[in-house]
Amino acid sequence: MLNEKIESILNQQIEKEAYSSNLYLSMASWAQNNGLEGTAEWLFAQAEEEKMHMLKFIQYINDRGGKAIIPALPQPPHEFENVQELFEQVMKHEQYISASINEIVAATIEVRDFTSNNWIQWFVTEQIEEEATVNAILDRLKLLDGKNFYLFDRDLKGIRTAE
Ligand code: FEO
Repeated sequence: MLNEKIESILNQQIEKEAYSSNLYLSMASWAQNNGLEGTAEWLFAQAEEEKMHMLKFIQYINDRGGKAIIPALPQPPHEFENVQELFEQVMKHEQYISASINEIVAATIEVRDFTSNNWIQWFVTEQIEEEATVNAILDRLKLLDGKNFYLFDRDLKGIRTAE
């Protein structure tokens, strides 16, 4: 049986992963409307990854005898200054998610739920990959120094999303 505190913090994470998915969908839509097909493709794939993350939390809570709750979500932003500002927001968001996963790790240790502690480690590794991928994208953007987004966008098709 899942500890109440762990059930609650995992349910909060369902909301964060679902919001992540919607945020990246919104960004993908913006990219598509601004002629950035490669960026849109990357963001649509990322939105799918986030949905998969959300499903993992739902399954885990229910498998352990808890109740996964599907939340209402706030509307994500839909206007972005440019592609650089967009990816800076992605980075900020992923750092926020990493901090939130760390809080779950801390909570599992606090209540000595070592099963959940073991389970959440997959997300600890995942966040390292997610931040590294976005960092690599931001590095490319820095090199371009505001020029030639066409090449950046084309190259982005070659950068896979984290799994
Ligand atoms: Fe599910 Fe990008 O964190």
